[in-house]
Amino acid sequence: MSDTAVQTPDSALAQPAKHKPLVFSGVQPTGNLHLGNYLGAIRNWVPMQEEMPCIFCVVDMHAITASFEPDLADKTREIAAAYIASGIDPERSIVFAQSRVPAHAELAWIFNCIARIGWLDRMTQFKEKAGKNKERSSAGLYVYPVLMAADILAYKATHVPVGEDQKQHLELARDIAQKFNNDLNEPGWFPQPEPMILGPTPRVMSLRDGKAKMSKSEPSDLSRINLKDSNDEIATKIRKARTDPEPIGGSMAEIDARPEASNLIGIYAALAGTEKEKVLAQFDGAQFSGFKNELAELLVSTIGPIRDRMDHMLKDKAEIDRILSRGAERADAIAAPILAETKRIVGFL
Ligand code: AMP
Ligand code: TRP
Repeated sequence: MSDTAVQTPDSALAQPAKHKPLVFSGVQPTGNLHLGNYLGAIRNWVPMQEEMPCIFCVVDMHAITASFEPDLADKTREIAAAYIASGIDPERSIVFAQSRVPAHAELAWIFNCIARIGWLDRMTQFKEKAGKNKERSSAGLYVYPVLMAADILAYKATHVPVGEDQKQHLELARDIAQKFNNDLNEPGWFPQPEPMILGPTPRVMSLRDGKAKMSKSEPSDLSRINLKDSNDEIATKIRKARTDPEPIGGSMAEIDARPEASNLIGIYAALAGTEKEKVLAQFDGAQFSGFKNELAELLVSTIGPIRDRMDHMLKDKAEIDRILSRGAERADAIAAPILAETKRIVGFL
């Protein structure tokens, strides 16, 4: 099979040549999935299935690095349902929960001994998440990016589609891969995974504050569109989204200096499958009220069917569990031999 032919991740297994293209990405089962997760990550995964074998993980071990509720299993099912409802095909791609494949934790330990404290001290997401409470944060939160590197490299994945906020973590994964290869004198053992930060909205901003990222943890629900929102909720949130008093218009540089306006135009462009420049030209001189009606309609027609498919899938938990178990078996079959060889390289008996 040539590199460009469609493969499943399992068929990639049969290919011993180094570093075949392989996609790996994941989302944490915390809070509500929102438009940022969808436009920054999940939506971009769907077409990749046509180009490369893909592995999509629900990273439940990452979800326990901060406080969490006992409904982790249901949250995990919800994310898996969202992947599939968004167009991930669990027959072709591998969909599974991180905690079901032991290689993630085992490789993370080895990588904890490769990564330097100085590298982790530079991670901005830890600083944001720990805030003033650094001393009381879990040690897991601190080494979170090391586990992320293990997620990717346990499969020798080469392409990692994520939102812009994950770029620094990908750089760390590359540094870990390189230091492991150098220190253990195994050039090329681990690949250098490439971040793929795609589309006009690599960073979807809050609807209430154009300078803050749309996030699961923001207390105001008006700040985000959740994949579970009803059509009415979507319309209300867009109507209430903060804008400035000027009509739409001006150059890209001018619109980018208006963060709330720029965010809404970016969201429209992503949903319409076009570029911000074109949306700006289309609505030149228009008031936000009319634009918002059209944006709400676009959102409802995109998110609505995904939400309905998710709801339908979540009625049959046993079927989701079956998909995730099968996914874990397939993932383990790829990761276990890579882990075994990595342990041998380290020198474990
Ligand atoms: P998380 O919710 O932190 O598990 O993120 C899951 C994926 O969604 C990652 O690829 C993030 O980069 C992406 N993501 C999260 N929030 C946003 C956002 N506001 N804009 C774009 N991408 C995002
Ligand atoms: N840290 C990522 C986030 O919060 C989630 C994640 C964990 C991930 N492991 C990964 C993403 C591996 C891509 C690849 O968004």
